[in-house]
Amino acid sequence: MKPNYHYKNVAETYLFSNIAKKVAAYTAANPDKKVLRLGIGDVTLPLAPAVIAAMHEAVDEMGKAESFKGYGPEQGYGFLRESIQSYYARRGVTLAADEIFVSDGAKSDCGNILDIFDKDNAVLVPDPVYPVYVDTNVMAGRNIAYMQATAENGFLPMPDETVKADIIYLCSPNNPTGAAYTKAQLKAWVDFAIANNAVILYDAAYEAFVADGAARSIFEVEGARKCAIELCSFSKTAGFTGTRCGYTVVPCELEFDGMNLRKMWLRRQTTKFNGVSYVVQKGAAAVFSEEGEKQIAQNLAYYRKNAEKIAACMDECGIAYTGGKNSPYIWLQCPCGMTSWEFFDYLLENAQVVGTPGSGFGKNGEGYFRLTAFGSHETTDEACNRIKNLLKK
Ligand code: MLT
Repeated sequence: MKPNYHYKNVAETYLFSNIAKKVAAYTAANPDKKVLRLGIGDVTLPLAPAVIAAMHEAVDEMGKAESFKGYGPEQGYGFLRESIQSYYARRGVTLAADEIFVSDGAKSDCGNILDIFDKDNAVLVPDPVYPVYVDTNVMAGRNIAYMQATAENGFLPMPDETVKADIIYLCSPNNPTGAAYTKAQLKAWVDFAIANNAVILYDAAYEAFVADGAARSIFEVEGARKCAIELCSFSKTAGFTGTRCGYTVVPCELEFDGMNLRKMWLRRQTTKFNGVSYVVQKGAAAVFSEEGEKQIAQNLAYYRKNAEKIAACMDECGIAYTGGKNSPYIWLQCPCGMTSWEFFDYLLENAQVVGTPGSGFGKNGEGYFRLTAFGSHETTDEACNRIKNLLKK
């Protein structure tokens, strides 16, 4: 047997597992210190009442012979795909229900979707970005080219005609920088992808945070149906990080060398995946009910308030930052020229606040740091006070 040698080329531990390990070691060594976690983008508010009610009902259905469900449709139940379809329609995007594939989350789909692409493809990834895009391609043995996302281009790299790209990753609003593409900027990417016979893998996990008219779906852009796949999730929109549900949209038009990507993804999913549980899908559908949408809007407003508090704290400390407007992340420059990990240790040891080192998202992230707005108001207030005490001049 030969193992997959490409695993030698990825870091031994995944970024967030590494951070969790460091924090656990610190907590064990300092049991009297209260650590405040603003690192991983994990939600803290409970699921919305409409979601909980729908899940309770679904559990009761599972307990009665006449409404019990066994295997469900692999692509997701019709009721959920139709709810997602109308969610897009309300934003002016027309999708067919069979272009929507329900899954257990955008992270899994992000890795799994690579099954339908040849190993020999040029992959183009922004730097910095969500580490899963890079790690999953390295594990599969693909070479990666990076597009530079820097303060100079507002962390929004645009197409470069001199770079070869077959698979292009875009994440907007961006994790970790919070930068969001406008429709006009995405149009340039769509034109580039079509001209180069490339596919765009568009991660829209943070679309619900868009507040200033930036694009929320790549399918708002003309031509995108010919070149893009969109990955989305209920995690950040509706607090499903522990409940697990997401979806991927693969338009019927996506065809390369006579092979239809939607049909290939369907074939892949029906072979390797048996769908998301009925109870979870019922909860996910309730996110789009009238009640559900109102409750979810309140939760998003709660997290936005945290983003404002963190931004105000940075202003008071004289620290430059971006994000927090279209995204739950504040992307800040480490003070006093510290590296990302130096600042991580400094903040943990002196304020017991956990964030995410920017260098974990790519080399351009070095010297940056990410704080999440997904904490409670209390944790966020306390973390901001501690940061101010430590860093305010
Ligand atoms: C993050 O903190 O970047 C995300 O929560 C990680 C994820 O969504 O997998």
